[in-house]
Amino acid sequence: MSDQHAAPPPAAVLPRHPADGFTADPLGVLEDGHRQHGPVFRMAVDGEETVLVGTWAGLGELFAVERGRLEVLNTPLVHDLFGRALFNLTADGHGEARRRLRPALSGRALPRYVPPLLEVIGPATDWWALHGTADLHGQVRELTGAMSARVLLGIDPDEVDAAQFAAVFEEFVAATGAPPGRARYADRRYWAGRSARRELHALFARRASQAGDAPGGSALAGLVEAFADAPDEAGPLSDHLLALLVAAQETTASLLTWCLVELAVNREHAERAAAEARTVAADPDLLVARDGLPTVRSVLAECLRLHAPNLLSMREAVCPFTLAGHRIEAGTRVAYSPSAGHFDPETFPRPRQFRPGRFLPGQANASRLWAFGGGAHACLGRPLAELMALAVMACTLQRGLPRLPAGPPARISFRPAKAPIDPLPFALEFAS
Ligand code: HEM
Repeated sequence: MSDQHAAPPPAAVLPRHPADGFTADPLGVLEDGHRQHGPVFRMAVDGEETVLVGTWAGLGELFAVERGRLEVLNTPLVHDLFGRALFNLTADGHGEARRRLRPALSGRALPRYVPPLLEVIGPATDWWALHGTADLHGQVRELTGAMSARVLLGIDPDEVDAAQFAAVFEEFVAATGAPPGRARYADRRYWAGRSARRELHALFARRASQAGDAPGGSALAGLVEAFADAPDEAGPLSDHLLALLVAAQETTASLLTWCLVELAVNREHAERAAAEARTVAADPDLLVARDGLPTVRSVLAECLRLHAPNLLSMREAVCPFTLAGHRIEAGTRVAYSPSAGHFDPETFPRPRQFRPGRFLPGQANASRLWAFGGGAHACLGRPLAELMALAVMACTLQRGLPRLPAGPPARISFRPAKAPIDPLPFALEFAS
C-alpha cells in the first residue's frame, strides 16, 4: 500500500509538567519543561490547565497555524476595560485596525518623534545626573508615560493636561489588577478604572478635535485621519489609543530598567555604549538611521534576550488542531513565552551571560528574538518602543555611566512585566 494513503499517526498524549516554583522562577520552570518534554507540554498556570508552547520550532509552528484556530484569551475584565481595542478584536476587524494604526507607529512617522522625545527625556536624565533616584523603575515608568503621552496624544509635559492624564491613566492601569472574573464587581479598582476610562476617552476626543493645532511630532492627527472612514469592525480610535498607551507602558519601562541595570553591572560595555551615545548629541537622526548606533542597539537586543518584558501571552483554541504532533481541542488555554529559545545554548552560546557583542552587525540578528511576540498579534509598537528605548539610553549615557548604589535588584516580579519588586537606587557617574 502506498504511503500516500496511510492514516495519519495518532496524536501523542500531551506530557504534563509540575508548576512548582513557577512564581519565583517562571523562566526556569518553563525551560525545564521544554528540556524534558519538547516544544509543547501541559501545566497549571494561575490554577488553570494550560498548554505551554516554547522553543524556536514550537513558536514558529504556533504562529504558522494561529489564524482561524487561536484567539487572544482576554478576561471579562480586559473586555470591559478595553472595549474593542486591537487585542480584543478578531479576524477582519483586527486586521483592518492594525492596517490603520501601523503607519503612525513605524517607518516614515518615526523621525518626526525624535525632537519631542528628546525634549521629554532631557530633564529626566539631567535630574538623574544631578541627584540620582531612589527608585529607578518608578522613574522610568513615569518617563515612559510622558513619552507615550507626548508622541501618541501630543501632550507636552508642562501642559495642564499632562498631570491630569498621568493621574487618571494610573487609576486606569490600577484597575487592570482587579480580579478578572465576576469578583471584579466587588473591587473598588474596577469601578475607578471604568470611570478613568470615560475620562480618558473624553480627553482623547478633546485632543483629537484640536489635533490640527497640536504641537508637531505627534501621531494623533494621522490616527484621527486614518480612522475617519474606518468601518465599524475596526473598533473606535479611543479604545485603540488607550490600548497603545497601556501596551507601551510596563513593557518599555521594563526594557529600559534592565538595560540600565546591565550597564551598571557591566562597566566596560557601558563605556563603549556611552562613547557612541555622545555622537547622538550632534546627530539625533542616528536614532532612526537604519545602521545607526550599533553598540547601543546591541545592548538593547541583549537585554530583550535576557530580560524579555512579557512572561506569557495567552490564547484560546477556537477549533481543534495539531501542534508539534499533539491534538489541541477547542476551548484549550494555550500560552507562549516570548523568551522561549532565548536561552538556547546552540543559538546563544553561554546564554546566561550579558554579551551584547553577539548582536553586533554580522553576528546574530535581533529581529529573530521573540520578545515582541509573533504571528497575527505581534507587537505593533516595536519600532516606536525601540526608538523610545534608544533615545532614553542615548540621553542617559551622554550624562554619565549608570551606577546602582545598593547593588542590583534582589527580588523580581515577572508580571505584568519583568521588574524589580523593591525600589532600586540609581545614579549616574560623570565619566571623565
Ligand atoms: C519593549 C517594549 C515592548 C515589548 C517587549 C512588547 C511586547 C509585545 C508582545 C510580546 C506582544 C504580543 C502579545 C500577544 O502575543 O498576545 C505585543 C503586542 C502589542 N503591543 Fe507591544 N511591546 C512593547 C512596546 C509596545 C509599544 C511602545 C506599543 C505602542 C505604542 C505596543 C503596542 C502593542 C499592541 C497594540 C499590541 C497588540 C497587537 C495585536 O493584538 O494585534 N507595544 N507587544
